[in-house]
Amino acid sequence: MIKKIWAVYFSPAGNTAKMTLAAAEAAACALEMEPSMVKQADVSLAKIRETPMEFCEEDLVFAAVPTYAGRVPNKIMPFFRDMVKGGGAFGVPVVTFGGRSFDDSLAELSDLLESDGFRLAGGGAFVCCHAFADVASDRPCAEDMKMAEKLGKVAAENLRAGRILRGSAFPGNHPAGPYYVPKGLDGAPAVFLKAKPKTDPEKCSGCGLCASLCPMGSIDAAAGYTAAGICIKCQACIRNCPAGARYFDDPAFLSHKAMLERDFGTRRQESKVVL
Ligand SMILES: Cc1cc2nc3c(=O)[nH]c(=O)nc-3n(C[C@H](O)[C@H](O)[C@H](O)COP(=O)(O)O)c2cc1C
Repeated sequence: MIKKIWAVYFSPAGNTAKMTLAAAEAAACALEMEPSMVKQADVSLAKIRETPMEFCEEDLVFAAVPTYAGRVPNKIMPFFRDMVKGGGAFGVPVVTFGGRSFDDSLAELSDLLESDGFRLAGGGAFVCCHAFADVASDRPCAEDMKMAEKLGKVAAENLRAGRILRGSAFPGNHPAGPYYVPKGLDGAPAVFLKAKPKTDPEKCSGCGLCASLCPMGSIDAAAGYTAAGICIKCQACIRNCPAGARYFDDPAFLSHKAMLERDFGTRRQESKVVL
């Protein structure tokens, strides 16, 4: 008997939150629970990821991340590995991806949840607009939203029927393969690990929103909103800046962005539900 449904998501640019909530609310509906019974745990902020999350057999947990370099974002993986305890709860891995490929992110997340002690009741990979490139810009579309709802219904059916999936049933390599190597327009690896967004001082109003939203807690308000720590290129600061003051000018990063737009801008990918 499920008493609580959870949407646990890392979602700096908002896509993953939207898809996870749609799936979790559809599950609530299929289980004849009010949509308001879905509890949200947004783990996008570093502070929140310091607290362990423990679940039990009466929980159904939709756990979600965006695909970064074909995998679970490497700085977020330790949270799902070490801080989340399944305790026999039903778990549903959810990933989003920006129109290139989800590669091994769903496989990796399903393996992580299984190791955490979740019983897997389905999973899905959903196409969403790319966080930093003009790829899949019109996604999620109505069809993607229907797929998210289908995942919620399937998860409800599976747990009612006691149908548990093995982590290895999820598409991708188990264990996950190497991270995708970003390429530039010339096809050579684009090295931008250390690139950080800049702030246009003429536009910046000093509101501090960027610093408060940075998932790594890396932006130093006292130093003109420079990224003092690690930048994972998630785009939270850029997309949410009300003055449009944040931007990347790193040539390798911009070349990778242009390559994605050239090679994937018109290719259509489909969302996928694992039953
Ligand atoms: C650093 C970074 C790496 C990404 N790598 C991939 C990738 O390998 N494949 C892909 O299709 N999309 C990739 N994306 C796009 C995101 O997976 C996609 O935009 C996702 O929906 C963002 O989730 P959010 O809006 O919840 O932050 C990447 C985005 C970022 C910021």
